[in-house]
Amino acid sequence: MNDATHPAFPAGTLFGAATAAFQIEGGSDADGRGNSNWDDFCRVPGHIADASDGRIACDHYRRWRDDVALMAQLGLQAYRFSVAWPRVLPAGRGAVNAAGLDFYERLVDELLARGIAPYVTLYHWDLPSALEGGWLARDTAQAFADYAGTVARRLGDRVHRWATLNEPRCAAFVGHLEGRHAPGLQSTSAALQAAHHLLLAHGLGIAALRAELPTAKLGVVLDVKPFEPANPARDDDIAAARRADGVFNRWFLDPVFFGRYPADAWMAFGAHVPRMAADDLATIAAPIESLGINYYTRGVVAHAPQRPHPSTQEQRVAGAHYSQMGWEDFPEGLERMLLRLHRDYAPAELYVAENGCAEDDRVSADGAVHDPQRVRYLQGHLQACARAVAAGVPLRAYLAWSLMDNFEWGHGYSKRFGLVHVDYATQRRRPKDSALAYRDFIAAHVARQR
Ligand code: FCB
Repeated sequence: MNDATHPAFPAGTLFGAATAAFQIEGGSDADGRGNSNWDDFCRVPGHIADASDGRIACDHYRRWRDDVALMAQLGLQAYRFSVAWPRVLPAGRGAVNAAGLDFYERLVDELLARGIAPYVTLYHWDLPSALEGGWLARDTAQAFADYAGTVARRLGDRVHRWATLNEPRCAAFVGHLEGRHAPGLQSTSAALQAAHHLLLAHGLGIAALRAELPTAKLGVVLDVKPFEPANPARDDDIAAARRADGVFNRWFLDPVFFGRYPADAWMAFGAHVPRMAADDLATIAAPIESLGINYYTRGVVAHAPQRPHPSTQEQRVAGAHYSQMGWEDFPEGLERMLLRLHRDYAPAELYVAENGCAEDDRVSADGAVHDPQRVRYLQGHLQACARAVAAGVPLRAYLAWSLMDNFEWGHGYSKRFGLVHVDYATQRRRPKDSALAYRDFIAAHVARQR
């Protein structure tokens, strides 16, 4: 066995894959599902690169049993999925749609029957449209907590690992400042207010989950990205990297773990900082057991005073590989980030909730999908995780993004992140070479424990 391709991890470390409801389920009108912000966003011409939407996606809402069988064939030990709030509470609050909960209950039961540990994320960006004001409305945070309690009451006897939100940073900043995600706004104040309400939803959600599930592992999934100065000899680039870190990483990590916003970023945002109530930060800092991180790449930044805070410009590194998203493959960044999170924030447990790349994947004449770059990406990042674990990081799981090609938000179906290829015309699933390499890696990990 080759140690480079099969790095050793402690027994009990789980390897699996992740998805999100809106990206794979389809069935958008099935069984009483309500409308979501992303259904609305997709309807506006120009929002989605290939003018597509999530109405069918991977048709997972109907094919879930086969998809779980596929996971079992690959030997996955864990599966992270999100629950669609609009399926469970079509109006966002109030009347529960039992059929929506039934779907996730069947899915969980099938996973457990196959020995696959479910990781549930309660909010992966599909917000019921009926919640007026969306994340700009403070009430949405309480509605989320009520929804979290509802799902916990149904699935809590079988699901032991819960995350409140996926990437509140992306939901807030990409949705309300960059305008590339729902609801498509472009305002710094709106982004910071939405971020605050998302963080509040996390805190209230943890309290609601804790009340139902005293022994479950609770947490949140944050997207993290290390920033480095384009020119490490320049003080202004070093300061730029620090500012970018404040907005991207510490704006979310510090409230969750320390109950405060980072002072440098707070000052720099000036009049745009969010309105909040006196005890919000204490609510947001509710103790959690586990932190999930989504890691894709690093940011190499130069000082760019003409741009709004954090006044940075990302630069490319000569000779590096960039995926179809324009993201550099940089496994060392994952290792460093795990070490830093362990040192600075010290959650009892960490897990990689997403990690992967989009490449130009095609079905070859031999019927296979050869994706050597993704195989390298996966190996590099697994090795980075192994080094972090050897240095003492309590990493409990690694979940690749994604189980299968899916609806990549504003890019529609044009970006393929899957270990498994999806032919959208026929819904045929074909494990790519990376899926087979990952299967062999997991098999070796399992064999070592025997
Ligand atoms: C993350 C999202 C996930 C997927 C990947 C590529 O930001 O959480 O849904 O789109 O990026």
